[in-house]
Amino acid sequence: MWSIESELGHVGGPYDRRAAVYDRLVRSRMYNRIAWSTAPEDYAAFAAAAFASADGPLLEVAAGSAAATAQLHARAQRPTVLVDLSRAMLDRAARRIAAAAADDDGHKLPAHIRLVQADLLALEFPARGFTTVLGIGLTHLFEDLPALVGALRAQLAPGGQLYLAGLVAQTRRGRRYLELLHRAGEVAVPRTAEELRVALGRPADFRTTGCMAYSTFTAV
Ligand SMILES: C[S@@+](CC[C@H](N)C(=O)[O-])C[C@H]1O[C@@H](n2cnc3c(N)ncnc32)[C@H](O)[C@@H]1O
Repeated sequence: MWSIESELGHVGGPYDRRAAVYDRLVRSRMYNRIAWSTAPEDYAAFAAAAFASADGPLLEVAAGSAAATAQLHARAQRPTVLVDLSRAMLDRAARRIAAAAADDDGHKLPAHIRLVQADLLALEFPARGFTTVLGIGLTHLFEDLPALVGALRAQLAPGGQLYLAGLVAQTRRGRRYLELLHRAGEVAVPRTAEELRVALGRPADFRTTGCMAYSTFTAV
């Protein structure tokens, strides 16, 4: 089995209640194509670039159920920490990584991986401890993007890179859906790709595929 370290005691995250539904949607080709004009393979390709960008410790924040990253975590030998507010999501991530690692009994998390239930805006790791920080499906959840980028950059070792992805209102359907989610209190005010690029502080690399915007930052 695995253990989930927690800085939050037994406090749960909003995703606890919808872990199963979210997990099914994020892996659905049809949902991603219709809602966001994207494909799950795009998320995995972005994550693969992050994994390949360096050796050394890797931090995945808002890791959720590791839908796009489980295979990568199972193969990578980098010391790794997965962080999420939701225990239920981290539990799914652990199960998926263990299955992908296909150890003898299929229930063990590879030894190089730690699971930590924590708020990514208030991480208590020693500063500058990771050569790669990755967060997918994330930027649209936060109103204060400079705070998000600042908190994650503080985790980057010199020369390290931050990879961040999130949804933008790039299609008419995507905008309508984001507005609906915003009214339901699920996401921040919808942004266009350009609004996001500026709010993020003009990352070193920025591109969109459908409604998903991919950004890369280097350590300062
Ligand atoms: C849209 S899901 C994305 C999950 C995963 N990265 C993916 O692409 O499938 C957002 C995740 O961020 C987590 N989350 C939201 N706010 C967070 C915070 N402040 N700190 C840590 N995790 C957070 C949620 O619990 C949820 O699992």
